[in-house]
Amino acid sequence: MIEFHRLSKTYSDVKALDDVSFTVPAGSVTGFLGPNGAGKSTAMRILAGLSRPTSGSATVLGRPYAELERPGYDVGTLLDASAQHPGRTGREVLTLGAMMLGLPRTRVDEVLELVGLTGKEGRRPVGGYSLGMRQRLGIGHALLGRPRALILDEPANGLDPQGIHWMRGLLRDLARSGCAVLLSSHLLHEVEQVADRIVMIGRGRLLAQGTPAELGRGRSLEQTFLELTAAADRGLA
Ligand SMILES: Nc1ncnc2c1ncn2[C@@H]1O[C@H](COP(=O)(O)OP(=O)(O)OP(=O)(O)O)[C@@H](O)[C@H]1O
Ligand SMILES: [Mg+2]
Repeated sequence: MIEFHRLSKTYSDVKALDDVSFTVPAGSVTGFLGPNGAGKSTAMRILAGLSRPTSGSATVLGRPYAELERPGYDVGTLLDASAQHPGRTGREVLTLGAMMLGLPRTRVDEVLELVGLTGKEGRRPVGGYSLGMRQRLGIGHALLGRPRALILDEPANGLDPQGIHWMRGLLRDLARSGCAVLLSSHLLHEVEQVADRIVMIGRGRLLAQGTPAELGRGRSLEQTFLELTAAADRGLA
C-alpha cells in the first residue's frame, strides 16, 4: 500500500504540494490526475526518495523509501523514461538492474518478453529508441523485482494505441495479483480506462478522490475535472 499523509513541498516561492493526503490500496490501479504543474511528479519523486518533503510523509508498505529493506522488491518506479544511459542496450539496462537486485538472468528475458522488446530491439542502444520503446523499457525496469507497489509517472506518453492497450492490460493484471499501482497522467481519458480509483490534484492541492462513478456523480468525469481544476486556478478549491 502507498500512503501520502499531509504531504507538502515548497520550492522557494512555489508550493508544489500543499497538505496532500491519499492512499493507493493494494490490488488497485489509482490514477493520479492533474494539469501540468499540479504536483504529480513532485509527489512521486518524494515517494521514491528522490526529494525530501517540506512536511508530511510518503510511505510504501508503511515506510519511507529510504527505510525500506528491499526497495527494489517493494516498489518499482518509472519517473523518467529517458533517464537510462543512451549507450547501453535495453538488455544491458535490465541486466544491470537484475544484478543489483540479485535476480537471475532469466528474469531479464522474461521482462523483455513482457514489455515486447525481444530480439533485435533489446540489443539496440537505448539512445536510438523511440519514446514508446523507452517507456516500455522503463516499465520493464520497474517490474524486474516483481514489486508490491508500482509508481509510473506519465507511462503512456509516446505509446501507440496498441501500446496503451497493452499497458492497460498489464496494469490490470498487476492489480489483480495484489500490486498497488499509482499512475499519473494529465489526460483524463487515459486514466479513466484503467483506474479503479482516481485522485485529482491542481496547484498542489487535493481536489477530489474516489471511484470514477463517485467523482462523476451523474456528470462526465471530464466536466468534474475541468470544473475542479478551473476552481483551483481561481484559488477557490
Ligand atoms: N526542482 C524544482 N525547483 C523548483 N520548482 C519546481 C521543481 N520541481 C517542480 N517544481 C514546481 O513545482 C510545481 C509542480 O511541478 P510537478 O513537476 O510536480 O508537476 P506535474 O503535475 O508533474 O506536471 P506535468 O503534468 O507537467 O508533468 C510546478 O510549479 C513546478 O514548476
Ligand atoms: Mg510531471
